[in-house]
Amino acid sequence: MHAWLCENPVGVDALTWKELPTPQPGAGEVLIEIQAASLNFPDLLIVQNKYQMKPPLPFVPGSEYAGVVRAVGEGVKGLQIGQTVACLSGTGGFGTHTLAPAKLCMPLPDGFPAVDAAAFIMTYATSHHALIDRGQLKAGETVLILGAAGGVGTAAIQIAKAQGVKVIAAASTAEKCDLCKAQGADATINYGTENLRDAIKTLTDGQGPDVVYDPVGGELAEPAFRSIAWRGRYLVIGFAGGPIPALPLNLPLLKGASIVGVFWGDFARRESQANAAMMGELARWYAEGRIKPVIDRTMPMNELKAAYARMGSRAVMGKLVMVN
Ligand SMILES: NC(=O)c1ccc[n+]([C@@H]2O[C@H](COP(=O)([O-])OP(=O)(O)OC[C@H]3O[C@@H](n4cnc5c(N)ncnc54)[C@H](OP(=O)(O)O)[C@@H]3O)[C@@H](O)[C@H]2O)c1
Repeated sequence: MHAWLCENPVGVDALTWKELPTPQPGAGEVLIEIQAASLNFPDLLIVQNKYQMKPPLPFVPGSEYAGVVRAVGEGVKGLQIGQTVACLSGTGGFGTHTLAPAKLCMPLPDGFPAVDAAAFIMTYATSHHALIDRGQLKAGETVLILGAAGGVGTAAIQIAKAQGVKVIAAASTAEKCDLCKAQGADATINYGTENLRDAIKTLTDGQGPDVVYDPVGGELAEPAFRSIAWRGRYLVIGFAGGPIPALPLNLPLLKGASIVGVFWGDFARRESQANAAMMGELARWYAEGRIKPVIDRTMPMNELKAAYARMGSRAVMGKLVMVN
């Protein structure tokens, strides 16, 4: 097998494409031949030692992937050799094969393409948990989605529209705003050229959005929070923009508003039954055609460094997927 190895987490340049012995699964594990693996923002952070999870060295990055089970370890139930699965195990995806804990593998129904499956779990689960559980978003309300053309952003647009919510999608370029419109956004704000607060005011008749979905942080956070509606919910998803913003605490007081943290990974670990029910709903929505990953492009696995560069330069729209 081959894989991208991170022996020193000092950035993408230090990754090397190596031939490694194909491992045999231990108890509770399966060997997966990877067909597709998507890039999530944490994959960029983890190879720079900037992510909350710090795997022992060396490791193979690639949190989320889909492929075919090629060997099954002792005690594994419900998975067979030849079955296609999607898996989000945190590492291992950027290669030709990986070992994965069987309990993290989701068997794929017929007709679920590997590229979609590899681009599904992290973004849709995060956005569903954020908007519906943590944000209590209801039909008839308005949500403002920042970084709306990115991975979690495009999933958030689709989920909010599936809930009958008015979506204002905000992104940094006209091309990204066009993509958001095509995904169902009711209105867009190009914060590369427009003043965010003024645009929100105009689009909400001065009322502000009920929910703000923020995976970007940085300079956008404070103006977005200042624009939120009475009893608004500000969802803290991530900090793709770099600096972690700080908000003056008089702002939530004045709006009777909440700052709501979202950590899907821990939700899945701590509340596994609720997470399984949510994943079931998302799989149904996919089968009904209500949600579908937006694939920026697929790239061959050996072009991972170019893919990372594309993500780091904010060029990705939707999800970038590496394929074998
Ligand atoms: N809380 C959770 O449970 C959870 C789960 C998954 C992901 N996340 C977080 O959510 C965030 C987004 O993840 P993602 O996979 O959707 O990433 P992504 O596809 O790269 O989207 C991130 C968006 O952030 C914006 N951005 C602003 N400054 C940027 C910069 N310097 N570099 C890159 N992007 C920048 C870009 O939109 P514009 O160009 O339009 O500004 C980009 O589309 C990350 O911080 C990630 O860690 C959190």
